[in-house]
Amino acid sequence: MPSHRTRITVIGCGHVGTSCAYALLQNHLAREIVLIGDTENLVHGEALDLQQAVPLGTPVKIFAGTYKDAAASAIAIITVGTPGKFSGSRLDMLAGNAIIVRSCIAKLMAEGFDGVLIIATNPLDVLTYIAQTESGLPVSQVIGTGTLLDTERLRHILGEKLNVDARSVHAAVIGEHGDSSVAVWSAAQVAGIPLAQYPGVDTLPSQEELLISVRHAGPEVAALKGNTCFAIAACVTRICEAILRDERSVLIVSTMMTGQYGLKEVSLSTPCIVGNCGVETVLELRLNEVEQKSLEASAAVLKHAYAQLQK
Ligand code: LAC
Repeated sequence: MPSHRTRITVIGCGHVGTSCAYALLQNHLAREIVLIGDTENLVHGEALDLQQAVPLGTPVKIFAGTYKDAAASAIAIITVGTPGKFSGSRLDMLAGNAIIVRSCIAKLMAEGFDGVLIIATNPLDVLTYIAQTESGLPVSQVIGTGTLLDTERLRHILGEKLNVDARSVHAAVIGEHGDSSVAVWSAAQVAGIPLAQYPGVDTLPSQEELLISVRHAGPEVAALKGNTCFAIAACVTRICEAILRDERSVLIVSTMMTGQYGLKEVSLSTPCIVGNCGVETVLELRLNEVEQKSLEASAAVLKHAYAQLQK
């Protein structure tokens, strides 16, 4: 299926899907944005509303489309699913959301989609693994938003507490986008200075407290407003940007492990070089023993959740 290199499809017109469409629109990333959803009037209304939000002079066409339209997209973004209040673990949503996501993947692949598939639905990593194994797309072409969001949350928290631009804070959260995520403290640094030696580091909360703040950031927002959407939409847009502009940027996203960290048959987050083919290279951080064990534990949580689903 020839793909329109500047068409992006958003599957799911809830808070996350429409936030993604609006963010993509504002970043002038696509010439066409296709919206797909269950409720015809809602999807058509969102498309009309977004079309009327098109910045003057931007030649973008936004329309309610079909999976046939989606199949000719450079990127398809899956945002469908029950809204995440994450009252417990994101993994609690797996059974219901797996049915919905599997249905989307089957329809998309039946139409011959051969672009990059981005998963934003929770529980993110298990659904990314399902998308990978059941779409038949190359590993590089299935990307979960993963701990890109957790990493940005940690950088934001550290930047605020150290009174420095978060863009100068380099800290990675890897593993599950969820309760077993791993902060790689051994590699954290600010402006090239190891975090442990950065002025003011002793005023920071403990590493455990910081990681808990990151893990609770999503549930905290969802408890207040019923969902999270803008931050995840910014992550989706960032990934689309790296793909469509062939940036080869390093983004921490969820991808199938093929031996990295000694892990296979599980999708989880690690720094990846992202370009127009999707994940061009999977990078393997040099973890200390605690971090390695924590990542193995994270992988085990995800594998167990998948195995339970398959029973
Ligand atoms: C969050 C959702 C996207 O953490 O899992 O906001």
